[in-house]
Amino acid sequence: MTIGIKIISEEQLTSTNTYAIKLLTVEKPPEGTIIRAGYQLAGRGQPGTSWESEKDKNLLFSIILYPDMIRPDQQFIVSMALSLGIHDFVSRYVPHSAIKWPNDIYVKDDKIAGILIESSTMGEKIHYLVAGIGININQEKFVSHAPNPVSLKQITGKEFDLNKCFGELAQDLDNRYSFLKYDKTEEIKKEYHKNLYRFGKLSGFSGPEGAFTGIIKKVDDDGRLIILKGSGEIGHYYFKEVEFVL
Ligand code: BTN
Repeated sequence: MTIGIKIISEEQLTSTNTYAIKLLTVEKPPEGTIIRAGYQLAGRGQPGTSWESEKDKNLLFSIILYPDMIRPDQQFIVSMALSLGIHDFVSRYVPHSAIKWPNDIYVKDDKIAGILIESSTMGEKIHYLVAGIGININQEKFVSHAPNPVSLKQITGKEFDLNKCFGELAQDLDNRYSFLKYDKTEEIKKEYHKNLYRFGKLSGFSGPEGAFTGIIKKVDDDGRLIILKGSGEIGHYYFKEVEFVL
């Protein structure tokens, strides 16, 4: 077991990612160390966004990893593995979950979880990678402007035991991360695509060129979304360069 080997749990932190990155400046915690919080004063989402989570209602944590088997330009595979781990957990409780590129977890058209990856590289090596995970479990009302958030409780009508969920999720993440350690990256890529939101389906997008329709063909090793456009051209997009228009 790697993920969950050590757990630092706090009632409240500014952000578990910020805490983990600060910790890494003074020590090298064992790989798989998790920093968990019941509440974040300034939870961070993807650049320019915040992460809403009511106190003690959801899972908020960051994992410290040293994926030295992976080149920095290939690190999207870690994101694929962790998205799959969360997807495994969510799909145990609710149907219709999918991974929305690059690494959001959706149930139908609503977002139940997100991952914020922050890494530091040194030459050809990943020095560290902090994967911050927020997953909505028992929250019943969301007040921020986050688009379409949803929780397990909203979908099922049931209250979940947070600690039990945390234990299961850590195991699911560890399982998928171990695929990378044992060189099973092709399996991770295959499963990621199998569970990818709107993969192979005609969808509407908005990119630098304006609105267009197309079909997602693949996500590259560097995380780019490859879309076969209605015009017959192939488009390659980095994160934030394109979005779905539903
Ligand atoms: C996203 O916007 O999709 C990414 C959300 C990531 C949120 C988690 S909550 C735990 C960790 N600490 C943070 O400040 N952010 C991540």
